Amino acid sequence: MADKRAIGVFDSGLGGLTVVKELCQVLPKEDIVYFGDTGRVPYGTKSIDTIKKYAAEDERFLLSKDVKLIIAACGTVSSVASSIAEDLPVPYFEVVSHAARAAAEITKNKKIAVLGTAATVKTGKHAEYIKRLLPDADVKAYACTLFVPLVEEGWYSAEDAVVLETVRRYLQPVISFGADTVILGCTHYPVLTEAIAKVLGEGVTLINAGTATSCAVLRYLEENSLLNETETEGEHRFYVSDKPDSFRSIASVLLGEEIDENKIEQVDLNSL
Ligand code: DGL
Repeated sequence: MADKRAIGVFDSGLGGLTVVKELCQVLPKEDIVYFGDTGRVPYGTKSIDTIKKYAAEDERFLLSKDVKLIIAACGTVSSVASSIAEDLPVPYFEVVSHAARAAAEITKNKKIAVLGTAATVKTGKHAEYIKRLLPDADVKAYACTLFVPLVEEGWYSAEDAVVLETVRRYLQPVISFGADTVILGCTHYPVLTEAIAKVLGEGVTLINAGTATSCAVLRYLEENSLLNETETEGEHRFYVSDKPDSFRSIASVLLGEEIDENKIEQVDLNSL
């Protein structure tokens, strides 16, 4: 049995597009409905109750688009609001456990650093998952609060002095810790991969949660015969809660392809 319904993906803003990019690599025929809560980004500095409320509203929106599966393409929601999955009528994927598994499999010196938002770091979720697989791992998490606004502003070039200096300031303790594996625990951070890699130097593996999660989604769809078996490329639609203009210009860079302006729509979650 094939399922032609779209995959629903949401994030607080642009960051989840790094997951969409990976999804497109492994599941090119799937339709994707993306919701970026650009009117309320960032989530990572907000309270747990607020993040849970926002996540539930984002999911309700995606369900109104009749999606077959939902991906919380947001490290913060994945860490803080995993329990809401129980109330969903469709399968739910988060980005924390898959990244944790990839890190546990790759590390050699068992020192793993997690970069994330303040909310993500506070939950300790990555460490919890990693230690289930590698009990003697040394896991330290670091909040990199300015990374999200940098990316949302379109500042991510590894040649940009402000970007490099900001990355350097946050990663100094990671270098001192000596991690050989670093999880990009917020889906905005892969945009800063070049700058982060430049600062950390060779010998450190960066884990992109989108890659690990997309592979898990592919496996699930295959095992449950839920793939879209069409011959054509999948259609992608984007919804945002603030004006689409700035989203569009940066989103095209993140996805590596121009997004047609007719494919981006502003929505009011309160009108659902
Ligand atoms: N992409 C979100 C995450 O993965 C950004 C969080 C935020 O909005 O602060 O955590």
